[in-house]
Amino acid sequence: MPSVFALGGGALTAEEVRDELARSAFTVLLDVDVDEAWRRTRGSDRPLAQDEEQFRALYAERRPVYRSVADAVATDVDGVLLAAAGVHHELGALERLGELVPGDGPVALVADSTVMGIYGPAAQTALGDRLRSTHELPPGEDAKQLHVVENLWSELTVDRSATLVALGGGALTDVAGFTAATYLRGIPWVAVPTTLVGQVDAGIGGKTAIDIPQGKNLVGAFHWPARVVIDEALLATLPERERRQGEAERIKTELLAGRALDVRAAAAYKAAIVLRDPRDGGVRNWLNLGHTFAHALEAAADFDLPHGEAVALGLLAALRLSGRDPQPVVDALDPQPVHVDRDRAWQALLRDKKRTGDEINVVLLGDDGPYVEARSADEVRAALYTLIGE
Ligand SMILES: NC(=O)c1ccc[n+]([C@@H]2O[C@H](COP(=O)([O-])OP(=O)(O)OC[C@H]3O[C@@H](n4cnc5c(N)ncnc54)[C@H](O)[C@@H]3O)[C@@H](O)[C@H]2O)c1
Ligand SMILES: [Zn+2]
Repeated sequence: MPSVFALGGGALTAEEVRDELARSAFTVLLDVDVDEAWRRTRGSDRPLAQDEEQFRALYAERRPVYRSVADAVATDVDGVLLAAAGVHHELGALERLGELVPGDGPVALVADSTVMGIYGPAAQTALGDRLRSTHELPPGEDAKQLHVVENLWSELTVDRSATLVALGGGALTDVAGFTAATYLRGIPWVAVPTTLVGQVDAGIGGKTAIDIPQGKNLVGAFHWPARVVIDEALLATLPERERRQGEAERIKTELLAGRALDVRAAAAYKAAIVLRDPRDGGVRNWLNLGHTFAHALEAAADFDLPHGEAVALGLLAALRLSGRDPQPVVDALDPQPVHVDRDRAWQALLRDKKRTGDEINVVLLGDDGPYVEARSADEVRAALYTLIGE
């Protein structure tokens, strides 16, 4: 299990400590300026914080040492969470991609053809000398196919010192991440999500996957990106319909967190959950709020229903089952009933939950946040049917 260590101010003056951190830790510097540091410590019984002049001199002396060991610098809780998950959030970050890809080894750039057309040149310029090869995949879900992975395996010429950079939406990062997980038994990769779905959800957490005829995301690997670069400037060209997909996941995250979240804060919330549960055996399940219903509706619609629209509907059902007012979801996402066969949707839900019994586990929302609870099949079915129009 990974552990969190909070080091005292003097620990880093020892070379052994600095070496050990470089070897075996991811070090986050919680940066405060000297005035703030003094405001917090003055009047305390800390021996080195008795005299202001001395304190300021010590701060000036240690600051460069702290900076030199820091893998990341953060100024707030979200910043620490993002840093710990390897997520870098910065407007205009694409232009600094060359520096943001860890190490100095070669890079293979993978993007879908639409995104390559828009951001490929800027990414290539930013990667400079490090760029070895460029690979274009089909846009959207069509990329998440074994033959696409095979093709990419055969195109890649880099060795294990290389990093694969995945530039695109969730479909692209899923398939490129899976390729990185498998090529040469795994090479590091960097996700540069270009959709809102990617920036608040798909790019974070290390799940990679492709689809097979038996179902979506059935083959994949956990392979954490060495870094996730979130540049909200890339969303400027995102079609409105795609943006709405991401809005559904962002609103879902707001419900889970119980407060308003911008893209950075939503990404930090996802980072917190996946750091607690990297292998998806516990709290990560909370991220499925509304998804039991969403998946059933998508299957009943032969996947002709966009995931975000299905999630918006699913959130309504989850809130109703939780005894909560669904109005915030109506206001934010305006979900419209879908016209699918009710029985098909219900059978799909049972199959998805691998249940035919009397009770079904669903993620619900309480005053203290999300929880999982078994509800009667009748209740769940009734909640599902409210989402389906005549
Ligand atoms: N790994 C995970 O944890 C995880 C989580 C959620 C979703 N996903 C996966 O993510 C996929 C959905 O991802 P998505 O919603 O990002 O869609 P997507 O990757 O299919 O992209 C949608 C479309 O938007 C275009 N596009 C992307 N960025 C653009 C930009 N900046 N400007 C203009 N066009 C742009 C793409 O070319 C594509 O046509 C699904 O396959 C889903 O399974 C994975
Ligand atoms: Zn989702």
